[in-house]
Amino acid sequence: MHIFTKSKHLKAHLNLIKDPGNIGFVPTMGALHKGHLSLIDISLKQNKTTIVSIFVNPTQFNNKEDLNKYPRDLQKDLSLLENFNDQIIIFCPSPGELYGSSVTSESFNFGGIENEMEGAFRPGHFDGVGTVLSLFFNLIQPRNAYFGEKDFQQLQIIKKLVEIKKFDINIIGCPIYREPNGLAFSSRNARLSTESRNSADFIYRILKQAKENFGTKNAIQITEECTKAFHNHHSFDLEYFIIAEVDTLKAASEIKSSKKYRAFIAAFIEGVRLIDNIALN
Ligand code: PAF
Repeated sequence: MHIFTKSKHLKAHLNLIKDPGNIGFVPTMGALHKGHLSLIDISLKQNKTTIVSIFVNPTQFNNKEDLNKYPRDLQKDLSLLENFNDQIIIFCPSPGELYGSSVTSESFNFGGIENEMEGAFRPGHFDGVGTVLSLFFNLIQPRNAYFGEKDFQQLQIIKKLVEIKKFDINIIGCPIYREPNGLAFSSRNARLSTESRNSADFIYRILKQAKENFGTKNAIQITEECTKAFHNHHSFDLEYFIIAEVDTLKAASEIKSSKKYRAFIAAFIEGVRLIDNIALN
């Protein structure tokens, strides 16, 4: 397994690769789980070389406590990646190595989608994501980059980033990987007690309920019902339940048959913020 912490060493290694036009990139913030491994599997099938970054990006956290509490266990991550042997390259730089002396965000205009949902509740979050991915994309110059649909808004933002900065990279959205009870895999799940992990399947149950009712009830009715269900559940503190059109990510009041919609949830359980979403049509 090749592990690099310095950009220049990674770059030197990439220069030796025979087919540099065939690099797949899986960016992660570590605390790896089966969802990440599924992205790596897809990249391995589609590219000669796969690079996995492990980097908890400080600029995308608007809340210092959230950044400090973000789970980190590099040794465990590396042991999970051992099975891939020489098939993957791991890049785990320090903030100074990646950003240089100024660990700050660039400011982006993603056409408004950065202000919805996560953007509204986590100011500056997508500037941080856009900044760190620009640094990675410039350094690695992958052909394909892989992202889970759990962070659907992030996926749409990254597609815009690639347009704005004219990166010649395919952004590939991959299906949400779920626990048997339906809870979406997330690094944050590591902070949940067994009890909360079991009851967090509620999020997916509500999303499935929204999907079942889509078409027979309108978006406002579904939103009211799902919001109420959360308020009646003693373990959850709901931040938002929104049905949105996938291009604008604005809450939908009327449904057009020509458009695609998703339901999105952000909720706290035991102080841990979880997000999830489902395609409605
Ligand atoms: O989804 C994540 O883990 C992060 O936002 C990403 C894409 C690795 C950027 O830091």
